Amino acid sequence: MEFIDLTNIKNVTDYNKLEVAGEIIKKGGLVLFPTETVYGLGANGLDEEAVKKIYKAKGRSSDNPLILHISDIEMLGQIAKDISDIEFKLMNAFWPGPFTIILNKKDIVPSVVSGGLDTVGVRMPDNEIARNLIKFAGVPVAAPSANISGRPSGTNIKDIYQELSDKVDCIIDGGSTKIGVESTVVRVIDGVVHILRPGKITVEQITEVAGTPIVDKHVLGKLDDGTKVMSPGMKYKHYAPKTRCILVYNENYEILKDKIDETIDKYLRDNKKLVLMCLSDNADYFKDKNVTIINMGNSLDEISKNIFTDLRKADSFNADLIIIQGVSTKGLGLAIMNRLLRACNYNIIK
Ligand code: TXA
Ligand code: MG
Repeated sequence: MEFIDLTNIKNVTDYNKLEVAGEIIKKGGLVLFPTETVYGLGANGLDEEAVKKIYKAKGRSSDNPLILHISDIEMLGQIAKDISDIEFKLMNAFWPGPFTIILNKKDIVPSVVSGGLDTVGVRMPDNEIARNLIKFAGVPVAAPSANISGRPSGTNIKDIYQELSDKVDCIIDGGSTKIGVESTVVRVIDGVVHILRPGKITVEQITEVAGTPIVDKHVLGKLDDGTKVMSPGMKYKHYAPKTRCILVYNENYEILKDKIDETIDKYLRDNKKLVLMCLSDNADYFKDKNVTIINMGNSLDEISKNIFTDLRKADSFNADLIIIQGVSTKGLGLAIMNRLLRACNYNIIK
């Protein structure tokens, strides 16, 4: 297995170390690589056999499609067709960046990539390592988040080493990822943007470029059995620690504090071992309680950057319950609440 350390880039020529990784992709191998959102588990997106290895390594259901990552706009024409003005406008505004758009796919894209659909998700990441890797590979790179299916996504190599290192041909360490939650996934239907998965690119930002988007009801709502979904990823368990989690939220901050307090006391009375994931001021406020506290930070950017590492850490204490403080769904808060609700299997106290 090849290991490429790019945690300390001093010079643009350092990116030349990625040539071997590009070769591995070309030859049908699997590469763990950083993006600005989360780590990806990448393979040649035009090579059916290589893409199958991704599903196998993650234990991912074959009907859950993968995103193709491109290094430049020329690669787009190879894989997608019938692109509308509004779609171009969105790509211009948010690429390179944490933004994925679902487009009609060309025949060259194997149906394993699209999970049998006639569309494909495309993203140009805003991370030099990722884009240089794709350039060296010379093909669009299919990559889901680097984690075993259902588990929190990987945002640094340490978190995912145990899960995935024996299943890949190359690991590129680029340090902790900057954003920490996956890209915003959208699809444009009849000129209207639908948000299928919220991310760093917010409703507010999309509104400025393409009018008010529709946030798919499954972003914050639980899926009923048998419902038809716009994105197969909505159907599956996601981001979940092994420990049971419960989300506590109220828009009134004082009420929220009281709710957290009551929840802690209720479970302590039953002698439960508890972990509390909360914002900095509450980490201080609850410090004398008999709970293990994980400080999620102060700002939405800080919370999102650490969210998956925090969930993994919370899980490592083998507690009976993880109590998690929620946030408002404004801006990046929508992406955070989408991940937390799913981590908690929609178990929420309001
Ligand atoms: O930030 C990200 O997007 C990361 C990095 C590695 O780029 N990738 C990522 O991939 O999060 P993944 O596979 O974990 O999530 C992709 C989501 C899934 O929920 C999938 O169902 C949805 O996008 N998706 C992909 N292609 C689709 C398509 N053609 N139609 C509808 N949904 C699609
Ligand atoms: Mg994922």
